[in-house]
Amino acid sequence: MTINFILNGEDEAIHCEADGRLLDILRGSFNLLGTKTGCLSGRCGVCFVILNSKVVPSCIVPAFRVRNSEIITIEGFSQTTEYQDIVTGFSRAGVECCGYCDSGKILAAGVLLERIPRPSRNDVLAAFTGIRCRCTEPESLVEGVLAAADIRQRRLYGRGT
Ligand code: FES
Ligand code: FES
Repeated sequence: MTINFILNGEDEAIHCEADGRLLDILRGSFNLLGTKTGCLSGRCGVCFVILNSKVVPSCIVPAFRVRNSEIITIEGFSQTTEYQDIVTGFSRAGVECCGYCDSGKILAAGVLLERIPRPSRNDVLAAFTGIRCRCTEPESLVEGVLAAADIRQRRLYGRGT
C-alpha cells in the first residue's frame, strides 16, 4: 500500500506492507538511525518518535496507522530551540547520556514540556515510565527536565519557573 505522511516537516509517500513497523520504515527507508532498535515490544523506549504530538514506541506502530499523520524523529526535533533547551538542561543536571536511549528521553521531555511547561516531579516521572534507561537515575532525570523547563521559560518569557 502507499502511505502518505509528514516526516520532520516534509511530505512523504512510501510503498510498504500495511503492518510493517514504523521503526523499520524510519531506519530502512529514510535512514533515520537516531530511532534505535531495542526490545521491539514497546517496553524500552529507545525507538520513541513523536506521532501527532504524542510520544510513541515506533516498534509497535504499524504503517497503516501513520497515514496522514505527522511524525517527528530526533533528527527533526534536534533542529528546534526546544531541543537545545533540553540538552542544556540535561547537561546542567548531569544527566548521563550513553547514546542508547537519548533520543527517547529527549523526545519524551519535549512532548512533556509542550503539554506542561512547568511540570511537577511526578509529571516528569510519569512521562518517562515507558523508558528503561540503564544509565540515568530517576532523580537526575527529574532535575534535568526541571532545568530544561526553567531554561525554556526564560527563553520564552524572560523568567524561570
Ligand atoms: S524497541 Fe521499541 S520500545 Fe523497545
Ligand atoms: S542513556 Fe544509556 S541506556 Fe539510557
